[in-house]
Amino acid sequence: MKIAIGSDHGGFRLKEEIKDYLRQQGVEHTDFGTYSTASVDYPDIAQTVGEKVAAGEFERGILICGTGIGISIAANKVPGVRAALCGDVFSARMSREHNNANILALGERVIGSGLALMIVQTWLEAEFAGGRHARRVEKISALEK
Ligand code: RB5
Repeated sequence: MKIAIGSDHGGFRLKEEIKDYLRQQGVEHTDFGTYSTASVDYPDIAQTVGEKVAAGEFERGILICGTGIGISIAANKVPGVRAALCGDVFSARMSREHNNANILALGERVIGSGLALMIVQTWLEAEFAGGRHARRVEKISALEK
């Protein structure tokens, strides 16, 4: 699975930890920035990663900002993106099984890195359940038209 990852300055440190984890797990990933703690605007990163995932260049994406809120709101403006902001493993799993989330959003200033890595692991392992959930996800896509 190919992952596109990105953060603003508020999520930079957690992004680096998640990259280490992905490397250890042998998960292919590309970092679309930011590359330091210098201040940047999260919508720019959300757009880049969102477009890569929506275009199918990457199967899934991970986005991090201070709260995870701004970057998930912005990513969800890109047609085809279903970004889920998760602060617990149950939501992470459900966002895949029920919502077919293709981007995971995290808040570095909200959760610790131990929980964040557990959320990433859960989210990467979980699969879309389909069935009745497929109809609902199709209705989400219809809202974009
Ligand atoms: C940046 O200071 C902060 O606003 C950003 O990382 C994020 O939390 C926005 O939702």
